Amino acid sequence: MGRAKKVVLAYSGGVDTSVCIPYLMHEWGVEEVIALAADLGQGDELEPVREKALKSGASESLVADVKESFVKDYAFAAIQANALYENRYPLGTALARPLIAKILVETAQKYNADAIAHGCTGKGNDQVRFDVSCAALNPNLKILAPAREWGMSREETIAYGERYGIPTPVKKSSPYSIDKNLLGRSIEAGVLEDPAAEPPEEIYQMTKAIADTPDQPEYIEIGFQQGIPITLNGVAKTPVDLIEQLNQIAGNHGIGRIDMIENRLVGIKSREIYESPAMMVLIQAHRDLESLTLTADVSHYKRGIEETYTQLVYNGLWYSPLKAALDGFIQKTQERVSGTVRVKLFKGNATLVGRWSDNSLYTPDLATYGAEDKFDHKAAEGFIYVWGLPTRIWAQHTR
Ligand code: ARG
Repeated sequence: MGRAKKVVLAYSGGVDTSVCIPYLMHEWGVEEVIALAADLGQGDELEPVREKALKSGASESLVADVKESFVKDYAFAAIQANALYENRYPLGTALARPLIAKILVETAQKYNADAIAHGCTGKGNDQVRFDVSCAALNPNLKILAPAREWGMSREETIAYGERYGIPTPVKKSSPYSIDKNLLGRSIEAGVLEDPAAEPPEEIYQMTKAIADTPDQPEYIEIGFQQGIPITLNGVAKTPVDLIEQLNQIAGNHGIGRIDMIENRLVGIKSREIYESPAMMVLIQAHRDLESLTLTADVSHYKRGIEETYTQLVYNGLWYSPLKAALDGFIQKTQERVSGTVRVKLFKGNATLVGRWSDNSLYTPDLATYGAEDKFDHKAAEGFIYVWGLPTRIWAQHTR
């Protein structure tokens, strides 16, 4: 009796997910493995990946192009929430997982599978995101995570795969663990495990070293409608084009590199390197437009919501009732966040240098120090009397 009969496996083409196929069948008695690779714009050739799953013993091998939904439904929502985990990481990996979980569940239902499988180990965040997201979408499906249980070293995993005709990685495999998609690259392991060591230049692919970036600044204009970026330099873009082009443009100026010590949900601190040019620029620009179009109280209150939202996404709770409730709040705040932000890209910095909006709450007559000033200065006196009253009373009683 196996753990499941028919399984849909989240497949990437790497050694671990490939070995999952024979392992599920020979060790855990699974009869049929359907491999599912998600095209999230990682830029890999997915046809060889699809074939590799079949060679590794999958009965069926599917590739789902989910790039558009990834940007529209996940990345743009995160931009509206100005989501930066621990103030820095724009969640490129974390945002992909609930979408992969969604297509795993849909595929399992379509093929009448009784379980879902993934190749995550027991130390990371991704296992949590997959398991919890799948459970939220269909609590009746079992979730199998062979790599969490098999206890094989890298060498043993490769040797196990060879027994079932899975080729040894030809190129000496990179010492880094890399996850990449349209939103960026997440890089860990190898020399990066020493938090004191500067990352070697070779790990970067989307962002230039400052020494190689242009010596002239480049100005770009990003147009938002209800908190969603829709134009670049005045030209309407599809979501995927906008992200791809902005990755190019900002990466060329060395923007979007992040080197941080991060707190994982499972309690481990890890040293992570990210490059995420488009997301970093978009979040900054979006936040700037909010400062022009939201009232002070909404804007300040939203910061707390953003923090909670970011933690929910990082911690695998994308499909949770609290996240859905926060979505309602965030969507309401975005109704008037439309306009344009001008950004100067130069030597690793994206500087916000201008913003304008039909919904701008900026009031020149009130803000100006010039003769046109309409602010009632006398009113300030009474305001301060009332505002400062509790403090004055306190001071009188305690001095
Ligand atoms: N620490 C990041 C996160 O939890 C990225 C993990 C990416 N995985 C990798 N193999 N580099 O979202």
